[in-house]
Amino acid sequence: MKNTVATLMMQKQAGEKITMLTAYDYTTAKIEDECGVNSILVGDSLGMVMLGYENTLPVTVDDIIHHTAAVARGAKNAFIVADMPFLSYQTGVYDAVVNAGRLVKEGGAHAVKLEGGAEVCEQIRAIVNASVPVVAHLGLTPQSVNVFGGFKVQGKSYDKAKKLIEDSLKIQEAGACAVVLEGIPAKLAEIITKKLVIPTIGIGAGNGCDGQVLVYQDMLGMTTGHTPKFAKRFAEAGNLIRQGISDYISETKNGAFPAEEHTYKIDDEVIEKLLSEEV
Ligand code: KIV
Repeated sequence: MKNTVATLMMQKQAGEKITMLTAYDYTTAKIEDECGVNSILVGDSLGMVMLGYENTLPVTVDDIIHHTAAVARGAKNAFIVADMPFLSYQTGVYDAVVNAGRLVKEGGAHAVKLEGGAEVCEQIRAIVNASVPVVAHLGLTPQSVNVFGGFKVQGKSYDKAKKLIEDSLKIQEAGACAVVLEGIPAKLAEIITKKLVIPTIGIGAGNGCDGQVLVYQDMLGMTTGHTPKFAKRFAEAGNLIRQGISDYISETKNGAFPAEEHTYKIDDEVIEKLLSEEV
């Protein structure tokens, strides 16, 4: 079944959890889609997990288009959300609409995601008016890493929590079709989820959200170094990949690969004729 804005909304109403995962390439998107994930996010996290940047700030609209187009070729049923990178919408309504439009027209996204609350409502309204669904993103918004002074949990004080509740209502009023809640206390996410008609998708926001999203390299155990507490490793694919690559290296070096079954044959007569000729 095709996942759309309407089916995600129906899932919230039915109390059926929404599943979202990031993907940045054709093969991964195809696997996730075949597994039945509801939504694929082409997150600007690709800057870190695919391109090796320290944070998401250097990611460009062209980067997101390139990866979204690959994902769109691989996913047949998932609702594809493309991230609007840093400074592709904060600079004003015109930039926001033009860049959101490019993610849909050139990338094949079904919706775009942008970070922020009250301060981006004008942009949300304009993008939705241009017929592009918008997923909002509140809490630990990685594009504000320099304002937060690191990737820190948000909304713990009364004032900050209240502001997040107010922002969630404002982005809903502006026309957002869903909201990602990242890095906020579970009880706050639960309050927001109950107040909103639109679905909340949590990451580090507890079990009370309408759905969950994770970065696939984190949840498959492919990342090393510090991983946030919420990023459960559902598999150790990194170890599997390392093992496979090490086996390839040793079997190639010791001659065990390629074996008979990996090799194409030719008739002996042809070889004999070739060898009998002086070339
Ligand atoms: O870029 C991303 O992957 C995201 C998720 C962490 C929600 O925004």
